[in-house]
Amino acid sequence: MDRHTPWPKSVFARNLTEESGTTELMDDLGEALTLGRGKIRMMGGGNPAHIPSMQAIWKERMREMLEESTGEFDRVLADYDPPAGSPSFRSALADFLRREYGWQLTSANIAVTNGGQSAFFFLLNRFAGAMADGSEKRILLPLVPEYIGYGDVGVSASPLFDSRRPDIELIGERGFKYHIDFDNLAVAEGHGAMAVSRPTNPSSNVLTDEEIERLRGIAAERGIPLIIDNAYGQPFPGVIFTETKPVWDENVILTMSLSKLGLPGTRTGIVVAREDIVSDIRSMTAIVGLANNNLGQALARPMIESGRIRTLAMEVVRPYYRHSAEQALALAFEHLPPEVPWRVHQSEGAFFLWFWFDRLPVSCRELYRRLKEAGLVVVPGHSFFFGLDTTGWDHARQCLRVSFTQPEEVVTAGFRILGEVVREVYR
Ligand SMILES: Cc1ncc(COP(=O)(O)O)c(C=O)c1O
Repeated sequence: MDRHTPWPKSVFARNLTEESGTTELMDDLGEALTLGRGKIRMMGGGNPAHIPSMQAIWKERMREMLEESTGEFDRVLADYDPPAGSPSFRSALADFLRREYGWQLTSANIAVTNGGQSAFFFLLNRFAGAMADGSEKRILLPLVPEYIGYGDVGVSASPLFDSRRPDIELIGERGFKYHIDFDNLAVAEGHGAMAVSRPTNPSSNVLTDEEIERLRGIAAERGIPLIIDNAYGQPFPGVIFTETKPVWDENVILTMSLSKLGLPGTRTGIVVAREDIVSDIRSMTAIVGLANNNLGQALARPMIESGRIRTLAMEVVRPYYRHSAEQALALAFEHLPPEVPWRVHQSEGAFFLWFWFDRLPVSCRELYRRLKEAGLVVVPGHSFFFGLDTTGWDHARQCLRVSFTQPEEVVTAGFRILGEVVREVYR
């Protein structure tokens, strides 16, 4: 029991200290990866796998930086970067994206942040909440389930999101796929921006090129940006299993990250946007933290300059995760009870399988609790359905996100536990 009388909290503090799915997930992840190794199978958070050949490349690059003659390591450690990011990293990335995709951009269109999560904290609060003109706006999520990390970032008193249910396409006996329900996507005056992750965390859904084009058209017509979270997409880390076209223009705000390439510890996020938005992000970074962590930028810059990063993404990272996803699917079919009406979303990218347990006799939160008790940590699905009233929509309480990035023996043991606990729950 806390012996102190609580001090009153600001709205900002209330919003950022309430129980949150993101905090619970990161606590679970940290606990399992530090204290619980061997006892807890961690299939909750989106930690990237430790891919040996990628780790060797980062170590080699680090050795190069440590060479006294380059002086690079001293600069990384002892100098603050400007708040928009390292100038050489920003121009290397702008050149790379121009070469790869023909996008008309320069380093003034690139801002670096302390991870994609910070980028979303800034962007979502930039476009919605209590507006400077006294109005209130919300972020329109055309399809939930959507990334849990957005859910609790709002700092003002009004709700931050207005979300839409998807169309659910049933595929065969065990599969399904989400689609945007365009008939139900009226953009209103009160929407400050639209946002999607592609591939989507948690479902692994990849919005089709046609869906993205329609969203771009709608956003441009209404004069609001379309924010596309590309944490898993192309050109890096390339954890996307369908053939799609990356897009950017001045109506799109594209976010990227070095995390899923294997560098989450360096906290490096990237925002590709109009110059005025880059300037806003720059100011916010300066005020919140002066500058960004610069290690990830220094590690990755030469690979971006040479274009090798794309080859690594396509030839090492993508096949690695595609194989892990296939193995995880095979384990699901092996261990989940055939008599239970489970389905799994089409595996199209990211680090997860998204299960739907139709007619689940308990809530997904209770299923999560029982799995944790049995030694398996996953993420209960309800936390991904924010920004709408889910009363009467059973689907929002019947899903689980299961990550497959941990070593094979952990994933195999995890699916065994999942199978046993699910069988027990439906009995
Ligand atoms: C869809 C998506 N966006 C953004 C992030 C943020 O990652 P980071 O802050 O490590 O760049 C994640 C991490 O899991 C994610 O899955």
